[in-house]
Parts: sequence; structure tokens; C-alpha cells
Amino acid sequence: MKYSFKIIIGLLVFISIYSCGAKTNQTAIKPNENKSTVIQSDLDRKVDSLLGLMTLREKIGQMNQYTGFRDFTGPVNKASDEESKTQDIRDGLVGSMLNVRGVKNVRAVQRIAVEETRLGIPLIFGFDVIHGYQTMAPIPLAESASWDMEAIENSSRLAAKEAAAAGLNWTFAPMVDISRDARWGRVMEGAGEDPYLGSLIAKARVKGFQGDDLSNRFTIAACAKHFAAYGFSESGREYNTVDIGTSTLYNVVLPPFKAAVDAGARTFMSSFNDLNGIPASANYFLFRDILKDKWNFEGFVVSDWASIKEMINHNYAPDDIAAARLSVNAGIDMDMESYVYLDYLEQLVEDGTVSMATIDDAVKRILKVKFELGLFEDPYRYCSEEDEAKVIDSNEIKEGALDMALKSIVLLKNEGDLLPLKRDQKIAVLGDLAFDKNSVLGNWRLGAIDNTAVSLQEGLSTYSKGNFNFERGPAFVTSKAEFSQELIYNKTDTTGTKAALDAAKNADVVIMLLGEHGLQSGEARSRTDLGLPGVQQQFLEQVYAVNQNIVLVLTNGRPLALPWAKKNIPAIVEAWQLGSQSGHAIAQVLHGDFNPSGKLPMSFPFDVGQVPIYYNHKNTGRPKDYNEGTVFNSHYQDAPNEPLWPFGFGLSYTTFEYDQIEINDNFSVDGTITVTAQIKNVGDRKGTEVAQLYIQDEFATTIRPVRELKGFKKIELEAGESQNISFILTSNELGFFDNQGNWLLEDGNFNVWVGGSSQANLKQSFMLKQ
Ligand code: BGC
Repeated sequence: MKYSFKIIIGLLVFISIYSCGAKTNQTAIKPNENKSTVIQSDLDRKVDSLLGLMTLREKIGQMNQYTGFRDFTGPVNKASDEESKTQDIRDGLVGSMLNVRGVKNVRAVQRIAVEETRLGIPLIFGFDVIHGYQTMAPIPLAESASWDMEAIENSSRLAAKEAAAAGLNWTFAPMVDISRDARWGRVMEGAGEDPYLGSLIAKARVKGFQGDDLSNRFTIAACAKHFAAYGFSESGREYNTVDIGTSTLYNVVLPPFKAAVDAGARTFMSSFNDLNGIPASANYFLFRDILKDKWNFEGFVVSDWASIKEMINHNYAPDDIAAARLSVNAGIDMDMESYVYLDYLEQLVEDGTVSMATIDDAVKRILKVKFELGLFEDPYRYCSEEDEAKVIDSNEIKEGALDMALKSIVLLKNEGDLLPLKRDQKIAVLGDLAFDKNSVLGNWRLGAIDNTAVSLQEGLSTYSKGNFNFERGPAFVTSKAEFSQELIYNKTDTTGTKAALDAAKNADVVIMLLGEHGLQSGEARSRTDLGLPGVQQQFLEQVYAVNQNIVLVLTNGRPLALPWAKKNIPAIVEAWQLGSQSGHAIAQVLHGDFNPSGKLPMSFPFDVGQVPIYYNHKNTGRPKDYNEGTVFNSHYQDAPNEPLWPFGFGLSYTTFEYDQIEINDNFSVDGTITVTAQIKNVGDRKGTEVAQLYIQDEFATTIRPVRELKGFKKIELEAGESQNISFILTSNELGFFDNQGNWLLEDGNFNVWVGGSSQANLKQSFMLKQ
């Protein structure tokens, strides 16, 4: 028998109103019981009422997610047959769709769920809104270089707004995987190598996407991914195994996920990798013990694309039915593109290997998020053509993307003050990528329109038509770059080099835009070589031979190893993949209209052989300065131990100096240690600095890293201005997790550094005594 959506909702409202009334009369609200607790329980009652109406098959349907009919973001496992998927939706066998976007499409699919199924439960529509929907902000790694939580939150807020205007209500972001290995392509999608910075960014992004109220028209549900340790894939090879110790797991991998839970992230995604022998998608310890029990996460968990089924390839689940059982019992509530929940959960419940309670718990979590999004009140809440026309690519969103792009740029070198450019200089601009309007949109750009970014050539042209001489030089790739294809770099064709060299000879300054294509990082884009791909290094050296006044502007989705460039090129600007407004942002920075303030969120290696390389490593028994004069210490024969550029590093067109570090130990009185220092702008222009604080717990029951970031402040100072800055350290910053996951705070000596990078040398110490 078919019920219409309206009848069901009416029934639910009646039930929930009735049950609320009854409860309110019986249970007096305690004075300290806040309103949200009460609303929460109302919600639970609504969810329970709906659950009570559902058949087992309908419940399982809620746990099934299909990709849309055209777009895909992984290998297509089931014929993308629109007809059979539509029929499954109609039969109440689908809880969510991904990759259906645009108000017209979303409305059409939602209409089937709401008007043609027995219960009319709305679908939740997910999409990878990673750094923008149609208007692209910088890639997340670039945004992280801003160390600006307000700007990052705003960038996610605008991404959510644009996505919500396109009918979407759930993003598969933020990716909060810490990574120390630049070979891994997905470092572009995260916040880099540091758990402290990564946790703050995770929080900012969740808040940005979700706002304070998920039922707001322009907020969408966030998804912290990929749980867990995906960033530690062995040898940086995509989807590879992860084998890490508990100290790294608790102190490095998990904190940003916990921060996402604390910030209210409504969903989580499992990762593709196995963790110490157990695939994440069947990892009971991760999802039940940690996430749902210890952290009390109340949202739902979606698998990654086909990651449940792929446990067969992992040699973990012998077949589909085992895969479904292992995943659901481990706490994966929704199956993305494996189809095994739909095919086998009913049978598993019948034979008793999956309990009804497990199914009910998963379904409740999913329904709850749908209620929170306001989808039961109005399933078409996100489907307004008017909003879609007004919001997408609006000035507000473009301005946000430009602001974020400016703040993401990192100045790596500026010898002889080659930058900013002077207005009367003759400038040659070289590099195929300088003309590219596509690459800087990054890898996660399914909602973007091809060739819509502002190229560097366009950005610079808005400054002055006369002074720039643009030449492509040799081609970058040999064929058109495709989202699902491997890129083929030009390694031989030097057509264009001669014209570029002629332009360089006649210029005062040469700007070269070199690096990676936007589709060279991201999922399934691991590299073993971290140099400039194709003929670019050769091209750089050829230009250097005719004109050494080079400003190298890098565009890349991961740290690169460029020791030759660092040694020889006088000015280097890290411009990542900055999104739709890229060319405008780079032009403003090169001209000094925006003074760069970014700091690296990941160490740049000297050589690929150093990776994984990260500042917060532990010491060895034979550190590099030990046994000096012999070979018996921890070092390489052919490369330094240090990175090319360290974590936290970034210059400005002015210079900052740090002094007067002092420590006020009030720990035994109020549990705080206050560290103060003075920072001074000693240059001749206004600038913004990210002042950073690092600690070392010198001796502990588990070895602590040589340094750990535990505070930072972004400060703007006029030329000549100085300011006192202070950082407060509490047990939250001073403690650590032992190998059983217990939080410890141990007495003893702590070293503290304050400065402009992880190599800061202004130092003090204090003795912690509880
Ligand atoms: C990625 C996820 C993404 C999903 C859906 C997977 O291949 O690993 O991060 O959210 O596809 O597009």
C-alpha cells in the first residue's frame, strides 16, 4: 500500500508532538539542562517513530548510496544504468546519491524518493565539495598555508553556500588526514603534516561547511575523512597499506578527527587502506571503540567508494557477503558504491550474524542527519533555481576565493629584493602553465567549468599591458589532461624554447610559472620524482643561462624537491593551485599590492629520498651531531637531514625579528604556563607574520618529538612596529597520549621556542611541576 509523503510526515508530526507533550508533562526540565538537549531528544523521538514504520528492506535502503547517472569519482562497478537505479530509488532502496548536482537534477531525483516511495523519505545528496563547488578556492593544502582560521572557515562557508545553491546538502570534506609524504597525491587535499595545525583547520572547515545550524538553507553536512591513517600509505603509493605504531596513531593521526567530532561533524568516511592488517572499512577498533564509543560520535559513517567490496582484494573478506557483515558490524553505516549492503544485509540479519540493533542504529544515525538538514520539513529546501542563479559564481564567492588565494601564497626566497616587481621593468613571462586556465582549478573540480580560472597571463595583463612579454616556451603536457587519465608530460619537444629565450634575453626580470598540472596531484596521483615534471627543469636552466633575474612562481599540489632552484634562482614564490582567482592573486603578490604572509604547512624535501620528512620527528640514539668526525650517526651520505624549506617557513616583503622570550609558570596555581615574546617589524613596509610557538617535552615515558607546534598567532605590524605576544600552555598542549591511548601529563623540563618557522631559535625552558 502506498502512503503519500504528506500523510507520513503528518503522522510523524502528530506522533512527535504527542510524545513530546506527554514527556514534558512528566519530566521536569532541570535548570541546568540546556535547550539543545531537549531538542535533541525530540529529534530522537521523531527518528524512532519513523524507524517504527520501516520494513527491514527499507532500513537497508537508507544504508545504500549510489553515484549519479553521469558523473563518477571512482571506477564504475555497476552499470550506470539510470533505469535500474531509478527503480531502486522508487522501491525505497536508496538513502543517498552522490554526484547528482544542479537544482534541476537534484529535484528530479528527490521527487522520486519523496513522491514515489512508500514512506517518502528524502535522499541526502553528497558531493566532493573540497575547495569550492563551481568557483574554486585554493586547494586545501594551499589554504592551510594561510594559517588563518577565519579565512579558511569563510572559504568553506562559501563553498557550502555555492554547493547548497546547486541542490547539494552534504560534502565529503574536510579531508583531515595528516601526511608526511609528498609522494602521496592527496596531500593537496589536507592540511599538511602537523596535528595541531591540522586539528584547528579541521574545526574551521567543519564550522565553515555546517555553520551553527545545519537546517540553515546554505549550510551542508560535513564529512571528516578518511578514517583513518590514509595519509600514511606506505611509500606514498596510493591506496597502499598502513602500518604505524600506536604512538603515531594517537598523537598524530587521530587528533584532527577528534577535533572534527568536537566541532560537530555530522558524518565520517572510512579510508581505503588497511591499518595494521585490518582494512579501515572493517575496523571495529576505529569505528566502534574510538569514534562511536570513546568519542561519542552521533552522526553516521559512509564507506569510501567501493571500499567495502574491495576488502576482497585486500585478502580480508572472502566474498561480498562477508565484506558486508564485517563492515556493518564494524560501524560503517552507509555503503558507497559497493552494493553489498543492499544485496546481503537482509540475509545477514536473518541468519543472525548482523543484529537488528546494528541496522537500527545505522539507520537512526542517517535519518537524524536528514532531519537536522531540514529535509523532512522540506525535501526541496536546497532546490531553488533562483538561489542557484544568484549564488553560483557570485561576486561574494569570487571575492572570497581571491582573499583566500592571496593569503595562501608563500614567499620562499627573495634575494636582492627582486620582488616586488617595479612598474618600469621590462618583464618576460614564460611557461606554458602561465596561459593555463584549467590546471589551477586543482584536482577536485568536478563542479567547476573547464578553463574558467584567471590565468597568470590574464592576471598580470590587468596590471599593465605594455611591460609584459608572454612566451609559452615548450609545451607542458603532450595531450589534453583528463580527470580519469594519467597525464603525459612533454619530455622531448622543445618547440617554443627559442622564442622564450629571446624574450628572456631582452627582459629586466623573467617570471617563470612552472610546476605540476592540477591533475597531477589528488587521488591516485602518487609520484616517485618530486622534481619539475617534463622538460621544465631543463627549460629553467636554459633561461637561467641567458638571464639570472628569475622569479620562479611554482604551481603544484604537493611539496616539490627543487635544490637547484633554491640554490640558483633569486626569487621563488609558492603559488600552489590557487583556484578560480589564481592569476589575480599571483599578480597582486608579485606587484607588492599584497604582502605575502603564508607559511608552509608541510616540509619541502631536499630530495625525494628523504621522505617521509617532517619537523616533529623523534630524536635517535645517534643524532646527526653525535660522534662527530665519524660516520656513526643518523645521516645521509649524499643529502642533508634537513628539508629544503621547513614546516612553518615563509618570508614577507618585510622582515620580522623575535626577542625577549619569557615564561611565567603559574601551573601549580591555575594550570597555565604563559610564554611571552616580542616581535618587531624591522623592514620598511607593513606586513603580516605568523608567530609560532614550539615545545619539547624533554624526557617522557614515551619519547616526544624534538619540537611540536603548540600555538601560533597571525599579527599585522606596521614598519618599525613591535608587539608583545603571549601564548598560554595548559595540560592540553603539554600532555600526550601513551601507547594505550591514555592522556598523560608528566612533570619535567620543557623547552620552548618562539619564531617564524619550525626552525625558530629563540629559546627558553621551564620545569613542569604539578
Ligand atoms: C575518494 C573520496 C571521495 C569519494 C567520492 C573516493 O574515491 O577517496 O575521498 O569522497 O571517492 O567521490
